[in-house]
Amino acid sequence: LPDLQDGPRPTVHTQQAYAPEDDFTAKWTRADARQLKRLSDPSAGSRENSMPASLTMPEVPQDFPDMSNDQVWVWDTWPLTDEHGNQYSINGQEVIFSLVADRSLGFDDRHVYAKIGYFFRPAGVPADQRPENGGWTYGGLVFPEGVTGKIFDDQSYSHQTQWSGSARVFKGGEIKLFFTDVAFYRDAQGHDVKPYDPRIALSVGKIHATGNGVKLTGFTEVQDLLQADGTYYQTGAQNPYFNFRDPFTFEDPAHPGETYMVFEGNSAMTRGAATCNEADLGYQEGDPYAETVDQVNASGATYQIANIGLAKAKNDDLTSWEFLPPILSANCVTDQTERPQFIFKDGKAYLFTITHRSTFGAGIDGPEGVYGFVGDGIRSDFQPLNGGSGLALGNPTNLNYLQGQPFAPDYNQHPGAFQAYSHYVMPGGLVQSFIDTIGTSDDFVRGGTLAPTVKVDIDGATTSVDYTYGDGGLGGWADVPANVNVTPGGHV
Ligand code: FRU
Ligand code: FRU
Ligand code: FRU
Repeated sequence: LPDLQDGPRPTVHTQQAYAPEDDFTAKWTRADARQLKRLSDPSAGSRENSMPASLTMPEVPQDFPDMSNDQVWVWDTWPLTDEHGNQYSINGQEVIFSLVADRSLGFDDRHVYAKIGYFFRPAGVPADQRPENGGWTYGGLVFPEGVTGKIFDDQSYSHQTQWSGSARVFKGGEIKLFFTDVAFYRDAQGHDVKPYDPRIALSVGKIHATGNGVKLTGFTEVQDLLQADGTYYQTGAQNPYFNFRDPFTFEDPAHPGETYMVFEGNSAMTRGAATCNEADLGYQEGDPYAETVDQVNASGATYQIANIGLAKAKNDDLTSWEFLPPILSANCVTDQTERPQFIFKDGKAYLFTITHRSTFGAGIDGPEGVYGFVGDGIRSDFQPLNGGSGLALGNPTNLNYLQGQPFAPDYNQHPGAFQAYSHYVMPGGLVQSFIDTIGTSDDFVRGGTLAPTVKVDIDGATTSVDYTYGDGGLGGWADVPANVNVTPGGHV
């Protein structure tokens, strides 16, 4: 890492583990998040990356291949996994699930039309021997029409969509698909008649994989698992723009036999009346760069109060769940800690989550990317990776310039600032993500397909990009490889 610019010291985090049921929530503090700016080179000029190369995804070229052969927009994507995050192929077929939308829509209109689709491809082929676009076949939508709308009491929704989640494989090819089932209630002008209604949900189906491809059956019913409670997790009544989504289930090595879930939430305060406190700021005693609580609370940063939730399964079917207190809050730091997930390595628990540059609170700045935290257990005093900043893998970004929007990137910004999002960390430190926008205002292309897979080395409280992987650090396009292969004879 480079010499740091002037700024506050990060908060001291012990990484100490607590029981999953304990009422301890780690804080990603403002003192921590302000390390991002300390890592940024204030002299980086127009269109240059101001962030350290070791934390930056290599630049993705504009002439990317489309994995769906022009059939659908593709963004958030997840593999078929077991309780340890291993990625499975079944009878020689790899399978992934993606949010997809019709290509007749503008890419930015996709969120209220999202549906879960799936892709498959033959397992065991090295990335450089596959077709350039990853060699996936689009299998179609997972759910029959109408299934995911049934759980909503109020059937007057204007849009009913399927948002991100995760897929677990069980004996006999059973798949438990955890996802976010969402209803929007909007008028003809697109204004909310009442707050949208996101629920963490489960649907069960089956995979049929042969040499000819993959078919899915089932997924004809949805069970409503969790709705935000207003105590730990903000509700639509508290803030119509609340975030509650993206379930990821796993087994905690410290509690074999139990299944937990992490998900995206917000701290359960009322929008407009939310406040942050000393612990959210996290400054060390006497730090000359410290802010006061009053300054921060007057700055508007109180609108950004993300958290990462924890829930525990109450039965083996994983159909009944209870909330536990959040494991991480980012009060007055960012409003979205999306698609959280755990990786367990060297006796440590690594919590990863994605956040946008635009969702950071006033006074905090950092690139679009995946952020990581390390602790001794799934509930810990998590230490943000890489000098306390939390940044694990960001887009090439120049924090000296505005970012613009994916549909209107800034002229002076690095062309890669929106190149990738929704990173998912896979076995071996491989990271997949989707392409959003590549380029600057005068010349940019929209994505809607998966980016090249990259690799990060995870070591203690640090990560660094492996530039020896693939071509200068860029691996295969849409490369989401299985690390466990199952056949009728068992695991291979
Ligand atoms: C920005 C965003 C996404 C989220 C969506 C919600 O594009 O905040 O992160 O999924 O909009 O509408
Ligand atoms: C991430 C995300 C997820 C959400 C989905 C909606 O890109 O914002 O949090 O489930 O996109 O499109
Ligand atoms: C910014 C903000 C964002 C949030 C959006 C909802 O003021 O709080 O963080 O996503 O507004 O309108």
